[in-house]
Formats: sequence, C-alpha cells, structure tokens
Amino acid sequence: MGSRSVTEDEFAMAEACLDQFAGDMIVRKSRDLGYPTNQKSKLISFYKWLSGSGINLAMVNNAGDPFNIHGSHPNSLVFEREVIEYFGPLYGFDLNDLWGIVTFSGTDGNNHGIYFGEKYLESKTQMKPIVYVSDSAHYSTRRLADLQNLDLRLIPSDVHGCMIPEELEKALEPEKPALVVFAMGTTFKGGVDDQDRLNAVLDKYPSMAVYRHIDAALFGGYIPHSEFRDVLDRNIHPFDSIAISGHKYFGMDEPAGVFLTTMEIKNNQNPFSVSYLNGSMPMINCSRSALSPLKLWWIIKHTSEESFAEQTKTMLETAKWLKSEFDRLGVPAWLEPMSNTVYFKRPGQEICEKYDLAPDYDERLGGGLSHIVVMQHVSRDHLAPFLEEFRMSTNSAIE
Ligand SMILES: Cc1ncc(COP(=O)(O)O)c(C=O)c1O
Repeated sequence: MGSRSVTEDEFAMAEACLDQFAGDMIVRKSRDLGYPTNQKSKLISFYKWLSGSGINLAMVNNAGDPFNIHGSHPNSLVFEREVIEYFGPLYGFDLNDLWGIVTFSGTDGNNHGIYFGEKYLESKTQMKPIVYVSDSAHYSTRRLADLQNLDLRLIPSDVHGCMIPEELEKALEPEKPALVVFAMGTTFKGGVDDQDRLNAVLDKYPSMAVYRHIDAALFGGYIPHSEFRDVLDRNIHPFDSIAISGHKYFGMDEPAGVFLTTMEIKNNQNPFSVSYLNGSMPMINCSRSALSPLKLWWIIKHTSEESFAEQTKTMLETAKWLKSEFDRLGVPAWLEPMSNTVYFKRPGQEICEKYDLAPDYDERLGGGLSHIVVMQHVSRDHLAPFLEEFRMSTNSAIE
C-alpha cells in the first residue's frame, strides 16, 4: 500500500477539532465543583521549559528504582527520589528509612499499599492477610483486593463516613494477619477514620500481625499544611504506607500520585530481581512516567510552605462558608471536621448536570445527596452563581 502525506486541509481540520475539544474543556473546568481536582494548574512555566529543553523530543522512562538507580537510559529517577524525599517528612517518615515512588494515580498508590502489605505480612507470618476497609472508602480498595485475590471484609461506616470500631471488632479474624486500609478523607463525605479508636480494637490482639495502609488521596495533600497535621504523622499514629494523589490537591494536569513506605517494608517484598535493570524491582509497574515526577518536582519547587498553608486555609474556610450558606438557605448540609467537602441534599437534575455534581445516597440522611469539593479554584465568587441557581431550583429538588 502506498503512503500519502496528510494534506494541509486535513491537518487544519484535525486542529480545529482539537480546538473545539479544548474550548469545551475550558467551559467544563469553570464549572468543576463536584470532583476533587485543583483546576489552578501551575504548570505553564514547566511547559515553556519543556518545549525548549529537548526532553520533549525524547522518550524518557522511569523504569527502575528511584532509591537504587542503575544504568544510563534516559530517566528522571533522581527527581522522583527528590519528590519522595520532599513528601516523606510531611508524614513523619525518617529520610533514612523511606522508600517510595511517584505513581500513576491514587489507585496505583493503593495498589502498591495492598500489594506491599500483603507481601510484608506474608513474609512475616507465612499467611495471607484479610483486608479490612470501610464501606465509605474509595472503591479502589475493593477492586484491588479482588484483583490481588485477597479476602476482604467491608466494615460498615457511620453517618459521617467513618469506619465503626465495633463493626471492625465484629469482623476481625485475629488468627489471620490484618491489612487495614484507613480512609483519611472518604470520597463522598470527607470522613476521616478514627485511628485511635480503630487501633484500640486492633491492639486487643497483640499476636495479630497488622499492616496499616492510609488512603489519603485528597486529604493527604493538604492535611500536613493544616492544624490537623498530627492525624497523618506516623510518629503519632503509626502506619506502614500511604498513598496520595498528585492531581487532586497539587494541581497536576494529569493523573499521578505518590506512594510512601519504609525501607523495612520495601526490604520484605518479593524481590523479583531483574538483571537488565540491575536490581530487585519491588514496584508493580516496569515503565513509569518520567514526566509526572518532573511536574511534581516543579510544583513543589515553585510553591512555598506558606503558600500551601494559605491554600489550605482558604479551602477549609470557604468550605465552612459554603456550609453556612446552605444553612441560610435551609438546605440540609454537612461538613466533617478536617474536610473541604460539603455534602447536601441532592438538588434537581438540571443543576446537578450543569455543575457535574456526583450523586450518593444515604437513607439515614434522607436519601439523595450531592457534594461540592472546595478545591483551590472554588472561591466564594465561583460559588455565588451556583448558590443563586440552587436557591431558584430548591422547589424542584428531589424529595
Ligand atoms: C479517597 C480516594 N481514594 C482513592 C481515589 C482514587 O484516586 P485516583 O483517582 O487518583 O486513582 C479517590 C478518587 O477520588 C479517592 O477519593
């Protein structure tokens, strides 16, 4: 078959098609209230650098271990390690006992948490653990336990979205190791599992081997910069690994995240020594993005601690203000402590569609619910038209 080159007209049509798509995304971005993404991307200067750097013309790949770099294939593993070493101390990890990677997403981080937890517990006890997680936690844990063929106990959560300690106790099988996933910021209600009360249950069985993984996809971004930082400090509440999304709080423009654990956990994995990468490869994926570590590195180098603290303060204050606005309108609404997510009685379909408000249902709170996740781009000005439309549509709200 002969080849022919793309004509100028075809090229222009393809570009017009992309322009239309971009325009649509910009409109959607301006209304994005219902999902936990920071739409204030800080990456303009990164792309300026990238386009002149030559890296944009190369295939750069982080196959390999950022804490054990070998070989000379093009990679950004040095930057990846710096990113992990930036995050480690924020959650109480000691830099001498820290291992981690930049992941593809929060789910990828949870996948590593469950995989590392399973391998660690198995290496210590020669038994497969049971996974315990609350029914308010993100569905990824259920999916991943299924994927990894692990027994899962879904523990009922209370009306605030937190795992109920008495229910954990009922479900525990203390003769088997426990791989507990704490949800630190549940997706819909922003509930934070109470580690003290849940640990008190686990502590009743001192001979039971326990691995604690924290899913802090969204809250893990801002909690270290808030008055609540102790809940994610592993020196205060011990945990073995943590997963955080990069595209939620940090303003990445594509899915990414970080997974952090200790060297002790990393050194008790299935080593899978890989000769061509010159070492043991504990992580699940071989090829990994070299660009997302660079973007995360750029973001943390361009954002001061004060700026993160200020962003966090504004988000949490705006969430409180939004809750008070719902109160003023007489609309049942809730805001959990530490949370930037206001959930409320679900309004009519039109407004839900326009603002892309995700649905949920809780009989205990009267049925249909929606939520607004107050991220950095969600200001009072941004919320004003929504609140006005909400007020007008209150009469048509689903009973
Ligand atoms: C609590 C929680 N964990 C995990 C995830 C999955 O993260 P990702 O979308 O980065 O895979 C989400 C996504 O919203 C989440 O809210």
